[in-house]
Parts: sequence; C-alpha cells; structure tokens
Amino acid sequence: MEQYAQRLASISAFKAMKVLDRAKALEALGRRVIHLEVGEPDFATPAPIVAAAKRALDSGQTKYTPAPGIPELRAAIADHYQSDYGVEVDSQRIFVTAGGSGALLLTMALLIDPGDGVLMTDPGYPCNPNFVHSFNGVAQRVPVTASNNYQLSAASVARHWQDNTRAALVASPANPTGSVLQLAELQDIANEVQRRSGFLIVDEIYHGLDYSEASLPTALEVGAIVLNSFSKFFGMTGWRLGWLIVPESAVPAVEKLAQNLFICPSAISQRAALAAFTPEAKAIMLSQRSAFAERRDLLLDGLRKLGFGVPITPAGAFYVYAELPASWTADSESFCRLLLEEQGIAITPGTDFGTYQADRHVRLSYANELGALEEALAGIARMLQ
Ligand SMILES: Cc1ncc(COP(=O)(O)O)c(C=O)c1O
Repeated sequence: MEQYAQRLASISAFKAMKVLDRAKALEALGRRVIHLEVGEPDFATPAPIVAAAKRALDSGQTKYTPAPGIPELRAAIADHYQSDYGVEVDSQRIFVTAGGSGALLLTMALLIDPGDGVLMTDPGYPCNPNFVHSFNGVAQRVPVTASNNYQLSAASVARHWQDNTRAALVASPANPTGSVLQLAELQDIANEVQRRSGFLIVDEIYHGLDYSEASLPTALEVGAIVLNSFSKFFGMTGWRLGWLIVPESAVPAVEKLAQNLFICPSAISQRAALAAFTPEAKAIMLSQRSAFAERRDLLLDGLRKLGFGVPITPAGAFYVYAELPASWTADSESFCRLLLEEQGIAITPGTDFGTYQADRHVRLSYANELGALEEALAGIARMLQ
C-alpha cells in the first residue's frame, strides 16, 4: 500500500457529492430524480457574460494573465463595492481567484501555520475545516443554533478563542442556514478578534442572493479579509472565478502565493466576468433573485406544514436547513437515502455540515423550479406517512 500524507485522514469527503453520484446512478437506470442537493443555481449563466466569453475566445484572450487578475476586472470589482455598498477599496488589494474556493485556499495559506486554529460555525460549509486541515491547522468548530442565529458572535468568539486560534471565519449569508450578519454584529466580532491580534475572514459568496429590503453590509467596512465568488449570484459556477480582498500589508504575500499556486485565474472567465457588472447582466440576476425568493417562501411554508423545524426564516443563499419532524426517529443520512431511493428526491444530510445536532437536520436547496419544489414536498409528505 502506498503511503500518502497523514493529513488526508482529517480531510472528509463532500456528502452532497455522494448524494449527487447516487442520484446520477439512479437517473442512468431511467429513474427521475428531483435535485435539491446541490449548491448551484439552476439558471444558465446570463447571456451578456457568455457573449463576452465568446468575444474573448475570438480575439485570442487565451494566455496567462497577471497572478492577481486582469487590472480591468480588479477595477470593476472595486467599482462594484463603491456602487453597491458605498465602500472604497483599492483594487491592488483585490485578487481574482479560482472561485471562492481559491480565495479560501489562499487565505489559509496566508494565515495558518501547523497547529493554528480557525473558529468556524457548526453547522457550516463542509469544505471550511478541510481548507484549514490542508495547512495542518485545526478547525475549531463552535456549535450554533437558531437561538444565536446560527452565527458566531462577539461573545462566542471570546468564549471559544484558544491560545492557538489565529482567525474566525464566518459566512453571511451562510451555508447551510441562510442566516446573515448585520454590520453591528460584524463590527463586534471584528473588535473581539482584533483585540486578540487575530483575523476575521468573511465569506460573502451568497451576497446578492439575500431577500430582505435592506441590503447586506460588506465586512470590508470592519476591516475583515473578505471573499466572494462569481459562482452564485452571478451564475458562473463552472467558470471557476471569485475574488479575495486582503489588507494592504498582505498584498505581497498573497501575490507570491497566487503566482506559485495558480499562476493566474482563467483568462477567458475573467474577460467574461467583466460583463457581469453591466446593467443588462445585473437585470437578469435580479430577476433570478426574485425567483429564488418565491421558491424559498414555497419550500419553507411546505416544510413547516409537514412538521419540519425551521425556526428562523433563511435571509439569503438558496438553502433551507430543516430539523426533521419529531415523528421521524431515524438519522438524517438514512432519511436522505430513503427519500432518494423511494421518492427520487435528492437532498443533503445535516452530517455534511458538522456534527452538532447534524443527525436531526437536512439541507434542501431551492435552486430548482417551483413545480419541482411542489413535487418534492408531495414526495416528502408521502414518505413521512
Ligand atoms: C459558503 C461557501 N463558500 C465557498 C463556496 C465555494 O464556491 P466556489 O468555489 O464555486 O466559489 C461555497 C460553495 O458552495 C459555499 O457554499
């Protein structure tokens, strides 16, 4: 047997992907499956972005770019902060990355020495602990519930901070709970982290997909390291493009990491993404956001009527994290397995997102049409009977 790196023992597989694999296998056998497991918008990439990519290909924009990204895109991202948030950011602090994933990898490479800890929520995005483990760091998971809005707070950061803790990582809106952090809460967490000479990392990749009247604040305002992505609101999952904004003092370090780890982000995707900030593309994305809001309301209402516990209305992203009805005694993995095998409905077990009360929870993605959500609710109702 070959010996691979020991750290692999602490890196777990993505359960949502396993569900997807089984769903695809059933489909190959001719079964119809309703997909509510994947974290990917069902809409196609907006046409202006696709057209810009075609123009980039036709004009030969297929070479390496600067490691931090093309200056035009970094400037467009800086303009986006000015126009949408009223926040000024120097484009030199912006690194275009291979998705939010590339941004998380660069962040951990920047901050984590072996044994260093990163505070994060349980439940949370499944890959977060694995990014930390990839640098032989320690994922320090903080159990969160509806009573604390499924988020870290200044108080929980203070309580859970250890001698080896280097950073706190939060997402707003969060995966899997859709909960968001307001500016005052972000500021309080930032103060707590800065008092301990640590770093606050804020994952804003579901920004734009938030459904209340008031717009979400960016954690740039509180001096956090901020990452975002073209995957979700911009509908570009397969283009692998995101961005990371770091303090000025970290720019040389992140630049050398980006050069060595990636050389540069995809040239074609970067050219395409320039069109993501045009009014035409934005109008398409905003109409998709309205569709997501309608779907959320339908799914949430249906699940609550079936006895699922969703104590807080998810304010953003496209997920409902629901507690199984009290009548259901089995664990979330067997619930998801049965639902897929018997009803052809694919959802994700809570155990993908952590360990705290994970067995009692499931995540449903509403990145699917209203009709499919109605069918799924009917299938879940049949299974519960
Ligand atoms: C909270 C969160 N962060 C980061 C990512 C990574 O996404 P991408 O690399 O496509 O930007 C995801 C993907 O689902 C996510 O849910």
